[in-house]
Amino acid sequence: MNIANNKIQFGKHTAEELLDQFGSPLYVYEKETLVRQYERLKDAFKDSDLSILFACKANSNIEILKVFKNLGSGIDAISPGEVFLALQAGFKPEQILLTATNLTREDIEYVLDKNIIVNIDNISMLEEHGELFAGREVSIRINPDIRAGGHSYLETGHRDSKFGLVIEETPRAIELLSKHDATVVGLHQHIGSDITDAGSLLESLDKILAVTLTYDSLRFIDIGGGFKVKYHEDDSETDIADVGSKVSRRFNEFCQKNNRTLRLMIEPGKFLVSESGFLLTKVQSIKGSGKKIIVGTDTGMNHLIRPALYNAYHKIVNASQVDGIREKVEIVGNICESADVLGQERDISGPKVGDTLCIFNAGSYGYSMASTYNARMLPAEILVENGTPRLIRRRQQLEDLLCFNPD
Ligand code: LLP
Repeated sequence: MNIANNKIQFGKHTAEELLDQFGSPLYVYEKETLVRQYERLKDAFKDSDLSILFACKANSNIEILKVFKNLGSGIDAISPGEVFLALQAGFKPEQILLTATNLTREDIEYVLDKNIIVNIDNISMLEEHGELFAGREVSIRINPDIRAGGHSYLETGHRDSKFGLVIEETPRAIELLSKHDATVVGLHQHIGSDITDAGSLLESLDKILAVTLTYDSLRFIDIGGGFKVKYHEDDSETDIADVGSKVSRRFNEFCQKNNRTLRLMIEPGKFLVSESGFLLTKVQSIKGSGKKIIVGTDTGMNHLIRPALYNAYHKIVNASQVDGIREKVEIVGNICESADVLGQERDISGPKVGDTLCIFNAGSYGYSMASTYNARMLPAEILVENGTPRLIRRRQQLEDLLCFNPD
């Protein structure tokens, strides 16, 4: 993304030209940013024997998955669907780890058939389907009972959350797994999203390392993702260099002291893809009645649910006129919900009907959380590489709304 002649452009194409070519609204991703973020992570953890698993729930477009495959990443998958996409993108089964809640028997059978290692999330899973894991290698998701995350919906590591086994449950898990001759090769945790400080990650690392001493068969420790990015200039972000060096040091000291050879794994989603993505939308209406000016667009909470769901801030810029006389406006979508607000009290330069708005940080949990609510179709997605845009998912057509109907 760059600014030229007071307009936002990607490579040499203005945002407006991209909408003319691919239709509005439109998701735009920049490959250079994906590569930059991946390299930043590798560099931050350079002192450890590290595997990065891209948490593809953040963005599961198959062309984005291929970018990470070519960079050497693995995949953190949450469902058989994500395993399917990762395999289609060319990842090998041993590069994929499935961390899911509430898997059905069919889900487990599908992924085991593909030779994917599954994270055991709860005791019921073993009591009901334990024999499916007979003779298999498994990993265990530990709930370390730590509160971390930028919003209560983003906390996953406290004992009242639905995720993982609390530490007291691990003996029962061991008992059930050994009954079926399953080998525990990994321990996993993911304590939340939008974590800014190294403190909670180190605290949870210590807890998981303490459990590590119980298992001789371990090959890896996966500390999850959750690194925060900036949503606006004054926002905080995870000091990734600090986290990387502190976690690596603590991990290496543990391995040396206990004479263990273990691989450290991390599984970031947002950090890798958030900043690479933009949602472009066209202004359809301006309402000036009442106390505020309301700018209406042709996208909404169906395409980017984060503002409505987490009250999340996404920077919005008038891509047709970056600088100009500013107005305080509310930016809304075209969905029949009062929560369909993309930005409140925003100062943007005089938006007019027909202008293109650019919504930032749309690369993670944007399209992947989008829906066809109100029978509004999903937008196209393009990937810009060396300034050249390439269509990586076509825009839905009306007929697509019928595609699951039986004949
Ligand atoms: N690993 C596991 C097991 C996870 O559950 C998640 C995210 C991640 C890794 C990646 O977390 P990240 O690095 O992207 O923070 N929709 C929310 C985020 C929910 C994340 C759920 N799990 C958002 O838009 O902020």
